[in-house]
Amino acid sequence: MTETIRPVLAGNKALVVGIANDQSIAYGCAKAFRMAGADLAVTWLNDKARPHVEPLAIELEADITAPLDVATPGQLEAVFDLVREKWGKLDILVHSIASAPKEDLQGGLLDCSAAGFAKAMDVSCHSFIRMAKLAAPLMRDGGSMFAMSYYGADRVVPNYNVMGPVKAALEAACRYLAYELGPSGIRVHAISPGPLKTRAASGLKDFELLLNEAAQKAPLGELVDIMDVGFTCAYLATPFAKRVTGGTVYVDGGANIVA
Ligand SMILES: NC(=O)c1ccc[n+]([C@@H]2O[C@H](COP(=O)([O-])OP(=O)(O)OC[C@H]3O[C@@H](n4cnc5c(N)ncnc54)[C@H](O)[C@@H]3O)[C@@H](O)[C@H]2O)c1
Repeated sequence: MTETIRPVLAGNKALVVGIANDQSIAYGCAKAFRMAGADLAVTWLNDKARPHVEPLAIELEADITAPLDVATPGQLEAVFDLVREKWGKLDILVHSIASAPKEDLQGGLLDCSAAGFAKAMDVSCHSFIRMAKLAAPLMRDGGSMFAMSYYGADRVVPNYNVMGPVKAALEAACRYLAYELGPSGIRVHAISPGPLKTRAASGLKDFELLLNEAAQKAPLGELVDIMDVGFTCAYLATPFAKRVTGGTVYVDGGANIVA
């Protein structure tokens, strides 16, 4: 990493959910926030994930680390208890998680089961609403919240299947949360990165094709990386972006504007 940036987020407290490894979009966000001077809270999914995430949390000098499976009752509340005890406030929240049962993700939407749809929606969308509810009272001086979406929310992307409707719901949730939390000075953004080779993406059929197409389609002619996403979120978290909220922000080299 050669970039240096001024500590524009010094004093900010950021909770970043979704680091699985150093390829994760959430890791790019956490790293960019830290480079800009923010203090971090970082979670891992479970004991299996911990050895992959804990060294990254140490590297990022995270003040708070904790397990968090949003499908396990009480774990989300426990993370926010830690944040309240240690920091007494929160400025930045990142939701960078998604999941759907493999059989529901890899079949077409017509074949998605009710249980699979509900599970995908709960982990990938409603958990953000639960996080926002717990985070808002801690954002006493205002704050910013981010949820990771994808272009498959707007247009049909072959093989994105059930995640298309789920991400569309996530983007709509960002708009409604931005509306409800705006009076408290809290800004909410859906971030829509171009395709990135991560563990979550490896669950999608023909993902390599998507990567090739994205690079060809983007006016800027290149794939994005996790730091592109991280620096965008870091900027949006600063007062320089204090009048920006509720929208979907594309970090895709411009691919979304091309038919
Ligand atoms: N990789 C891409 O091409 C791409 C593009 C646009 C958007 N996104 C979105 O970015 C986000 C992050 O994905 P990524 O690509 O960095 O992959 P990733 O595999 O690195 O991250 C996904 C994370 O979701 C977490 N997760 C899954 N189920 C969970 C649960 N029940 N509780 C808590 N955490 C859970 C995993 O532990 C993991 O850390 C996702 O919302 C994904 O849909 C990814």
